[in-house]
Amino acid sequence: MPDRIRIHAGVRRPAPIVIHVNGVATPCHPGETVATALLAAGIVVFRRTASGAPRAPVCNMGVCFDCLVSIDGRPAVRSCMTRVAAQMRIGLPDHG
Ligand code: FES
Repeated sequence: MPDRIRIHAGVRRPAPIVIHVNGVATPCHPGETVATALLAAGIVVFRRTASGAPRAPVCNMGVCFDCLVSIDGRPAVRSCMTRVAAQMRIGLPDHG
């Protein structure tokens, strides 16, 4: 896990949990959004438009809908508005 976006110095986080991104176990921390967990894992394409253009989070506050992913079988969930949960299953178009 690249984990480049998380601040480490002086930050204490709960023990990691695991979510599954297209079947791949991906560690993250309770309290993080799905978008944060995916970006921390180095994932930059969250969905594709009808023409195939890659999209990723833009606003991170629920407005742009560019962060839509499949979560536990539910399509088109805003990942920036959804907190991770242990064993959550995330579906992305370009990974796995
Ligand atoms: S990043 Fe804009 S709605 Fe999620």
